[in-house]
Amino acid sequence: MSSQPPPALPWALALLLALQLRSLAAAGKCRPAGPVPSASHPRPARPVRPVPSPPLGPVPDPSAPPHSPPRPSLRFPPRPAPPLGPVPDPSAPPTPRPAPSDAEVAPSSPQPPEPGFREVYFEQLLDHFNFERFGNKTFRQRFLVSDKFWKKGEGPLFFYTGNEGDVWSFANNSGFILELAAQQAALVVFAEHRYYGKSLPFGERSTWRGYTELLTVEQALADFARLLRALRQDLGAQDAPAIAFGGSYGGMLSAYLRMKYPHLVAGALAASAPVVSVAGLGDPYQFFRDVSADFEGQGPECAQGVRDAFRQIKDLFLQGAYDTVSQEFGTCQPLSGQKDLTQLFGFARNAFTLLAMMDYPYPTDFVAHLPANPVQVACDRLLSKSQRIKGLRELTGLVYNSSGTVPCYDIYAQYQACADPTGCGSGPNAKAWDYQACTEINLTFSSNNVSDIFPDLPFTETLRQQYCLDMWGVWPRQDWLQTSFGGGELTAASNIIFSNGDLDPWARGGIQSNLSASVLAITIHGGAHHLDLRASHPADPASVVEARRLEATLIGKWVEASRREQRLRLAQHPEHRG
Ligand SMILES: *[C@@H]1O[C@H](CO)[C@@H](O)[C@H](O)[C@H]1NC(C)=O
Ligand SMILES: *[C@@H]1O[C@H](CO)[C@@H](O)[C@H](O)[C@H]1NC(C)=O
Ligand SMILES: *[C@@H]1O[C@H](CO)[C@@H](O)[C@H](O)[C@H]1NC(C)=O
Ligand SMILES: *[C@@H]1O[C@H](CO)[C@@H](O)[C@H](O)[C@H]1NC(C)=O
Ligand SMILES: *[C@@H]1O[C@H](CO)[C@@H](O)[C@H](O)[C@H]1NC(C)=O
Ligand SMILES: *[C@@H]1O[C@H](CO)[C@@H](O)[C@H](O)[C@H]1NC(C)=O
Repeated sequence: MSSQPPPALPWALALLLALQLRSLAAAGKCRPAGPVPSASHPRPARPVRPVPSPPLGPVPDPSAPPHSPPRPSLRFPPRPAPPLGPVPDPSAPPTPRPAPSDAEVAPSSPQPPEPGFREVYFEQLLDHFNFERFGNKTFRQRFLVSDKFWKKGEGPLFFYTGNEGDVWSFANNSGFILELAAQQAALVVFAEHRYYGKSLPFGERSTWRGYTELLTVEQALADFARLLRALRQDLGAQDAPAIAFGGSYGGMLSAYLRMKYPHLVAGALAASAPVVSVAGLGDPYQFFRDVSADFEGQGPECAQGVRDAFRQIKDLFLQGAYDTVSQEFGTCQPLSGQKDLTQLFGFARNAFTLLAMMDYPYPTDFVAHLPANPVQVACDRLLSKSQRIKGLRELTGLVYNSSGTVPCYDIYAQYQACADPTGCGSGPNAKAWDYQACTEINLTFSSNNVSDIFPDLPFTETLRQQYCLDMWGVWPRQDWLQTSFGGGELTAASNIIFSNGDLDPWARGGIQSNLSASVLAITIHGGAHHLDLRASHPADPASVVEARRLEATLIGKWVEASRREQRLRLAQHPEHRG
């Protein structure tokens, strides 16, 4: 694993934070997750909150207490299924993954600083935009906080706007934020997005149909805004300029937070944030074309090998030779018919998507347990077999058989088609993301076997509408995200860095040129999905080292400017202090 696991929390820090956070609890705002940590204390299973059945229809009962009392625990949560952004959980059902073996393969790297995060819950409003239905009812939103690097009164507040998964997985894979916090003496907060991880408005029912209405980008941003204000007050950080950070969907949120709440955050680093494509702008074939480009970049043989493998599968299906495909590709169930073919194609294509996104120059364990330079390894695997279908099986094994213990592919369990053709993963986080892809987030991406190396797998607005109506009873609203946040028209915004790696298939769905003096685009040559947010590593390309340096400088300047403005305001209006 490239990022450092947080070891035991130092006692002094734990106590200090406990004291500070106790005042938050007393104020009825943030609630500490528990007393002083005890590493030997087993974490109790979180009881399922009994939610009374809604009286009429699928509407949750607003008068029900949204949660049972929090289970005090400072132990780190058990390893969940890897969260996957617009990313699937390939390790999903079939076989448990063995202990990571990165330690043996990874080149030794400087350890990212140990933040000693404390896990805390905040009483968050269920509905920020309606005073009646849910009144002032709340749920518990999880966040992580570290004041290890913070110089109170001097340092800024770094606020990660959590995305579609367990907040720990983002904290564990964003070492750069900690490095920068150490440099700039910042307080660090990673906030979990509502409906993901443990921040569930209606307990385990949250992602059931009928309980998802409070899952919107706008509600999530308002959560962050409210949490940020409360934290500032309760940690005595009123004067600390805040900077939003995020990667992927989280990157979109960090940019949006700066746009919607500029009085709360002085700037945003939006890494690999596809703000343009997800607003339904741009070319629906761009994504898979760019996934293909990464494999084409390994040489014409690799790309041709992939095309050949898919063609052979299709041809064998046309001949009715289903068993041959099952055997050569190694599926658990016998295959037959169009439905299985489409599923098999989607399953295989998703491995390419993940490999392209996670094409880091060192082994990682973010959304899957992958070797260094996985796209190159994938091509080697494909070409290592004389039979192309067997080669494709080997290639997809990087994602679906990283443990080497999966005897056969369960193509329906290991890959679940959803409203995000780049993958949703599985489990409750995946369901929440599916809902978002059915409402505000437009991911109508298709492959066509012309501009890309994949089979023709269309996902049009019409298919999306049908799927979303069947699955969630919702109908995507035309252009809403663009109306709400501007798509790519962001010249009126300020202090936002949009960084993108040119290996990342999401890059061309984002902001790729400088839009103004302070809405900047940084391109990281040889970089995959938000590589810049990851901890520094000896195998990093020079481009990402340079990008991080520029990001650090710009963020430092925003913080400085914010402090200057603050001093000026205070000099003019001393009565506004506090
Ligand atoms: C984050 O890292 C900690 C410490 O290594 C680990 O226990 C935890 O499972 C990780 N969580 C996720 C979601 O990756
Ligand atoms: C919540 O609303 C009720 C009235 O419905 C009110 O009595 C109570 O004080 C409110 N609580 C908070 C924390 O605002
Ligand atoms: C989603 O994006 C596509 C373009 O990729 C567009 O045709 C469609 O209208 C968009 N859908 C909505 C609901 O805005
Ligand atoms: C892709 O297109 C080529 C050229 O038209 C065709 O021969 C091949 O069968 C197609 N592959 C698939 C999987 O449809
Ligand atoms: C998974 O890897 C093991 C070890 O290499 C191999 O024996 C097995 O066939 C692979 N599973 C599939 C479905 O290819
Ligand atoms: C945007 O401006 C920054 C700072 O001047 C520069 O480093 C960067 O290369 C520019 N980005 C693009 C895409 O031209």
